Amino acid sequence: MKKNITVLRGDGIGPEIVNEAIKVLDRVAEIYGHEFVYTDVLMGGCSIDKYGVPITEEGIEKCKSSDSVLLGAVGGPKWDNVEPSKRPEKALLRVRKELNLFANLRPTKLFKQVCEASPLKKEIVENGIDLLIVRELTGGIYFGKRSTSEVNGETVATDEMSYSYSEIERIGRVAFETAMKRNKKLASVDKANVLDSSRLWRKVMHELSKEYPEVEYTDALVDSTAMQLIKNPGQFDVIVTENMFGDILSDEASMLTGSLGMMPSASLSDTTLGMYEPIHGSAPDIAGLDIANPLGTILSAAMMLRYSFDMMKEADAIEQAVSDVLDAGYRTGDIMQEGMIRVGCKAMGDAVAAALR
Ligand code: IPM
Ligand code: MG
Repeated sequence: MKKNITVLRGDGIGPEIVNEAIKVLDRVAEIYGHEFVYTDVLMGGCSIDKYGVPITEEGIEKCKSSDSVLLGAVGGPKWDNVEPSKRPEKALLRVRKELNLFANLRPTKLFKQVCEASPLKKEIVENGIDLLIVRELTGGIYFGKRSTSEVNGETVATDEMSYSYSEIERIGRVAFETAMKRNKKLASVDKANVLDSSRLWRKVMHELSKEYPEVEYTDALVDSTAMQLIKNPGQFDVIVTENMFGDILSDEASMLTGSLGMMPSASLSDTTLGMYEPIHGSAPDIAGLDIANPLGTILSAAMMLRYSFDMMKEADAIEQAVSDVLDAGYRTGDIMQEGMIRVGCKAMGDAVAAALR
């Protein structure tokens, strides 16, 4: 199969980790007889520097017309003080909205080979952590009306959070369907004891749960979920939640395993077009040093094969290769343990490509 992939390398370590994912994709193409055609588009600080905007209209169109989008990471201190409408993050939000990427899947899985990297006590992690956060990505407070004005002689800033029935229903469906393919457990997370948008969220999820009697469904409040994720992460399978709660809980969840650098993500629409990126940031402090962990991006490429291209065998092969490389003892600095083989970003990509079968 031939697939067109738009590549948003972004800033900081973005370019180097994306290079390694492409190396692995090219090896997959070779083994399985596919053709992947890459088109680079600048997004983030690199685009601000060149064009004065975090992504150009042409860049957005390129993303829309491709079969999928692979993203490294955007942003960095250099662009922290540009005006809000031109920030690197703004481009990311725009791409999410324009491509209708409403379903963000963020898996957190403990790789047994690196379980010592977890900051949690051994007795908490030893039962395994394998959960998936389904985060709503194109609604809620991220996309509500925003304003800053003077009221009675002082400055007041407002951000509006709203959800429609249909927005909740479509993300709910993704979550229930995903749970059906996993361990059939779903926790919907909200703040229904305070927020109207959460009360509607809960009502819609309840209605949907009747259509999926096989899924063991629970609702939970976001504060208590934040606590339970630390106390007993093994209890969770799929978690579905709105945009901002998902942003916060997914950072928390990613840290449970201690291997943030290895966590991939997929942002999906109602077509096969999706965007795939590691969940970590652009890490400007280590950019260009060839020490970043490319595994999160490589595993994101695997998700791309699975969700956008329906290449299941190929996706499994990448995940297996990553696991084999860890078994062989290769570690980047962030997951380094005594007695293991320390490698850089490029060498890690080489190892995964070589382990592919
Ligand atoms: C994420 C990031 C983004 C978000 C930022 C960079 C806008 O934190 O993908 O989780 O808040 O969604
Ligand atoms: Mg975040």
